[in-house]
Amino acid sequence: MCGIFAYLNFLTPKKRSEIVDILVQGLQRMEYRGYDSAGIAIDGSNEIESPHSSVALLRKAGKVSVLSDFIKESSSDLDMDMEYNIHCGIAHTRWATHGSPRDVNSHPHRSNDKNEFLVVHNGIITNYREIKEYLEKKGHKFESETDTEVIAKLAQHIHDRYPDFSFRQLVETVIQQLEGAFALAFKSSRFPGQLVASRRGSPLLVGIKSNSRLQTNHFPVSFSKGRRFMSNHATHLRDETSFVETPNNILDLSIAVRSSNGSAKMEISDSTTAVRPFDSDDWEVEYFVASDAAAIIEHTKQVLFLEDDDVAFVEDGALTIHRISRHADNGEQKREVKLLEMELQEIMKGSFKTYMQKEIFEQPDSVVNTMRGRVLPSGQVVLGGIKEYLPDIKRCRRLIMVACGTSYHSAIACRQILEELSELPVVVELASDFLDRETPIFRDDVCLFISQSGETADTLLALRYCKPRGALTIGVTNTVGSSICRESHCGIHINAGPEIGVASTKAYTSQILSLLMFALTLSDDRISMAKRREEIIDALNDLPELIREVLQLDEKVLDIAKQIYKEKSLLIMGRGLNFATCLEGALKIKELSYMHCEGIMSGELKHGPLAMVDEFLSICMVVCNDRVYKKSLNALQQVVARKGAPIIIADCTVPEGDLAGMKHILRVPKTVDCVQNILTVIPLQLLSYHIAELNGANVDRPRNLAKSVTVE
Ligand code: F6R
Repeated sequence: MCGIFAYLNFLTPKKRSEIVDILVQGLQRMEYRGYDSAGIAIDGSNEIESPHSSVALLRKAGKVSVLSDFIKESSSDLDMDMEYNIHCGIAHTRWATHGSPRDVNSHPHRSNDKNEFLVVHNGIITNYREIKEYLEKKGHKFESETDTEVIAKLAQHIHDRYPDFSFRQLVETVIQQLEGAFALAFKSSRFPGQLVASRRGSPLLVGIKSNSRLQTNHFPVSFSKGRRFMSNHATHLRDETSFVETPNNILDLSIAVRSSNGSAKMEISDSTTAVRPFDSDDWEVEYFVASDAAAIIEHTKQVLFLEDDDVAFVEDGALTIHRISRHADNGEQKREVKLLEMELQEIMKGSFKTYMQKEIFEQPDSVVNTMRGRVLPSGQVVLGGIKEYLPDIKRCRRLIMVACGTSYHSAIACRQILEELSELPVVVELASDFLDRETPIFRDDVCLFISQSGETADTLLALRYCKPRGALTIGVTNTVGSSICRESHCGIHINAGPEIGVASTKAYTSQILSLLMFALTLSDDRISMAKRREEIIDALNDLPELIREVLQLDEKVLDIAKQIYKEKSLLIMGRGLNFATCLEGALKIKELSYMHCEGIMSGELKHGPLAMVDEFLSICMVVCNDRVYKKSLNALQQVVARKGAPIIIADCTVPEGDLAGMKHILRVPKTVDCVQNILTVIPLQLLSYHIAELNGANVDRPRNLAKSVTVE
């Protein structure tokens, strides 16, 4: 859902070509977030002292590679060998929301044709129409159909009225007029070598690379309040006469940074400063601002996650963090510099053709990572992130799982085992519908928010809905430092490693595993369940090997894909613990190959879908030797009786005779019923992958979709 990236080097000499490479590479790492268009803004001159140096703006509809080619074509106009001691560049890869994917709708957006103020944005500004109307009345001319352009124009407007404002003051004033969700990075030809970034509702982090090691982890935060330019209520836009500025309210004064040899190389010159050069000859620093750690990790592992309403400001190589107070501010007053644990190769494709393929084949390892240190040899299951809250969780009256898409399917996959092991009512909710219904939530509810990215707007809003109603909230995410992670009371990291392919695969199986482990922790004191727990834990220990076996079906799945990839429609049927596999398999096929595909609960077959079945319809059925085996066979017979010729996914204990006459049978190993759905979904992940490949679709970046959906 758009990726923003900014890079600032301070006394770290860089050629323009190197700066461009860093920006473009940052975008490539985040391209899964959106690939409708891409753009960068860099300095057009080296006159850092100049009050108005020029800025080059390069943007193109299409993927980052299109932008990259365009930059190469333009390089004769830009001296790529020009060296900068200090430079700030901003960049963006877009997933279109307002305005079609055209050059002019691409970011960065600018305040005027002199490129005085430029901004990149991830999110949606919900009151942009009112701001636009206001600015148009003041004479500003708009060139795009986007919501973002109002931000750049508003910055210009405020700057023209208040030329003495610092860049930070200006941006703080701008963002107080904005409603909606945003992560923003600003560059200005008026403030060369300076960078301002802020967020509200969309993720943003700052990477810090310096010749001096950061030793302490806390960044002090200064606090700004009371800036008002226009009323935030769009219908009551007030003029700038109502602008009131109150002085900064400074919080927390601790010194944040020391050099590696222990002597102070940097000092806190005033209480708002977090990182500052002590001796500028000796000080080199580079800052990276990004929507995602994947864009930063190859440069530095030291990152600072911004909170909603934080403003990060870099001036003279010093980074300061400030807060905008919208309401009574209860925000944290310190920001921690965290050390990222992921490695670059974890986010690279390796020898695989696509990220998705790599991620499917990584599952024997990703499930081990999910269980590492949690499923103990003693047979205990320990989830550190919820340990403290376990007594409260066990006392609850209801478990509610809220999620979207694939994450929702993982909740469906685990509902039954959670009901069985917790003996509690378990409700599964699609986040958007949960919010639409304003579902009643009580203090004795425990709500789980399942999200690979940890940033999905619907799921995050559902969390924000439940928390004030007193429910205990648990985030189940794959992204350290994500909003859901930070805002929930406690959490379970699924630890699947970074997932780059837009279609979720390894995160899905790790989500199921995490929820299974959660169910096991809820029943660890029940003697009556000891045997059941034991068989599940044994199955978990065998799982990586069983997944390896399933992956050997790849060739066979490819053969089947070759026979059906031109079909218009495919139905996937199953029931019980494998129903989630049908829903998830169908979602994968739809999103990757754009083929109509439906997951059908086979118990529902006779209530309607059976009417579609004939010898021409492509069907896939999941038949496992579990509690609903007989019923699954009934469904198979109903389909065969209508001349249907389904592809079968069956566990290896299903007798040959029961599947006699079936043309395609994909046998997966047998495991305990509640783990079986991890094994049955993998052939469908492979099938969706091959169908999409055969159709020439972009497997890692399906059209119209984005990895992280940060808008409602
Ligand atoms: C499909 C897929 C999506 C996501 C959904 C929620 O392959 O990945 O359906 O599952 O957008 O995303 P997260 O899990 O990040 O909340």
